[in-house]
Amino acid sequence: MKILMVTSEAVPFAKTGGLGDAVSALALALARLGHEVRVVLPRYYSVDRGKLTPLEGEMGVPVGGGEEWCAVYQTEIPGSRKDNPVFAYFIDHERFFGRDGIYGTPGEPDFLDNPRRFTFFNRAVFQLCRKFKWFPDVLHAHDWAAALVPVLLKYEQRQGPFEKTVSILTIHNMGYQGIYAKDNFHYTGLGWNVYYEGGFEDWNMMNFLKAGIWAADRLNTVSERYAEETKTQAHGFRLDGPLRYRSADYRGILNGVDTEVWNPAMDRYIPVAYTAKDLSGKAKAKEALQTAFGLPNEPDTPIVGMVTRLTGQKGVGEIFGPDYGCGWGICREMQLQFVLLGTGELWCENEIRNMTANQPNFKGRIGYSEETAHLIEAGSDFFLMPSQYEPCGLNQMYSLLYGTLPIVRNTGGLADTVENYDQKRGTGTGFMFNDLTPGAIYNTVGWAVWAYYNKREDIEKMRIRGMKHDFSWKQSAKKYVEMYNDAKKAVE
Ligand code: ADP
Ligand code: GLC
Repeated sequence: MKILMVTSEAVPFAKTGGLGDAVSALALALARLGHEVRVVLPRYYSVDRGKLTPLEGEMGVPVGGGEEWCAVYQTEIPGSRKDNPVFAYFIDHERFFGRDGIYGTPGEPDFLDNPRRFTFFNRAVFQLCRKFKWFPDVLHAHDWAAALVPVLLKYEQRQGPFEKTVSILTIHNMGYQGIYAKDNFHYTGLGWNVYYEGGFEDWNMMNFLKAGIWAADRLNTVSERYAEETKTQAHGFRLDGPLRYRSADYRGILNGVDTEVWNPAMDRYIPVAYTAKDLSGKAKAKEALQTAFGLPNEPDTPIVGMVTRLTGQKGVGEIFGPDYGCGWGICREMQLQFVLLGTGELWCENEIRNMTANQPNFKGRIGYSEETAHLIEAGSDFFLMPSQYEPCGLNQMYSLLYGTLPIVRNTGGLADTVENYDQKRGTGTGFMFNDLTPGAIYNTVGWAVWAYYNKREDIEKMRIRGMKHDFSWKQSAKKYVEMYNDAKKAVE
């Protein structure tokens, strides 16, 4: 099959979170199954044009009555097989993408012209296929920034060479829908009838994701539990209705892990590699982590680690919220060390700096670092991820593979990947709680630390159990192929 992934993020070129990891890894896994896969994304300012190959000729893209001209660049996605490489195409348009930030910057978190930028990008996808005469069987759109693709296909493009093309929309996070003033609708070039019947209309605003949900031939999100949750009012972010309406075409497919990058047996960022058979390298990683964060080298003190975007979704309010968060209590009252790496909301970054300066067993680092993320995954004993909601979550899977026990809330992909500790039987792979409250987080970290000191054998068994998980992309990629085949029924 010919598959074109349409996305605003793909590693190693552009990433704000797990979306970038998921798209590239899925593309590579599908290519390994023999499919012809390409990825298209904007050429952001941070992507060095010098490392890309320019493709011949400018390309005109109709946007809102006029035409925008852009260039197209190409490169292979690293990790591609020689015999079936995955190419990434970059749409290069100076005014829309020649600036810092993907969706925004700290000073302007959501660029004012995002509806126009991403409308242009989505329209460019069809022009790209025409220009290079490469017509996919499947147009696979990811998240709101690509959600116009299924809509354009359904209402305008499904003819001629696109007659048999089907569309897939993968929702990585319901919290980001692309909701803008409806004056932006004219950029799409679609008629106002489509604004209403195509599901754009959302309390007199324009909602990209909602229209994509309406139009895509098949839909999915990134875990089975989250697929169920999003059909409820509690987790649907107001789109539970449309998702219930489409439930026959909507499913959950768990993300995999790129085990060439996240694998303790061959991790270049940790001092000594290790496997489930011999965990001595993990002790070395713990020592290195303590040294890197300026903590005393105490092999028998448990380390709780976090690597996260500092935003409400990740439960950071319940830990670091001034006055009510449980972070200070955990560090003052428990015999542990706590390390964190993250960036995000300013109030939270400041509170983390404050705790780092005043609480000796807490060390937070504000910044983005692959290397430190790997060291935390390997060197910690526990990984804390108390998400308010979690479509899939990658870090808890990394943790499991690194013998680091996740402490998670019972939700979404966390619920689908972590098995709660059963104290009577000594089984499980992590520690879970239900309610997102500072008290529940405090108690569950307390439970894990208690088990570390009092049920050490169980802890060691749980580590091994987690490390034996198979989170490779192959299984998930096969499920995507099933969905593609199912979608084809829509055009037959
Ligand atoms: P989300 O996409 O909601 O942020 P995921 O768990 O799916 O959550 O993916 C987060 C990804 O981003 C992981 O690969 C994680 O290691 C990485 N990450 C997040 N913050 C940082 C950071 N400050 N430094 C390095 N990696 C980070
Ligand atoms: C989103 C979700 C996260 C998921 C990632 C990749 O960023 O928040 O849970 O793992 O997308 O699908």
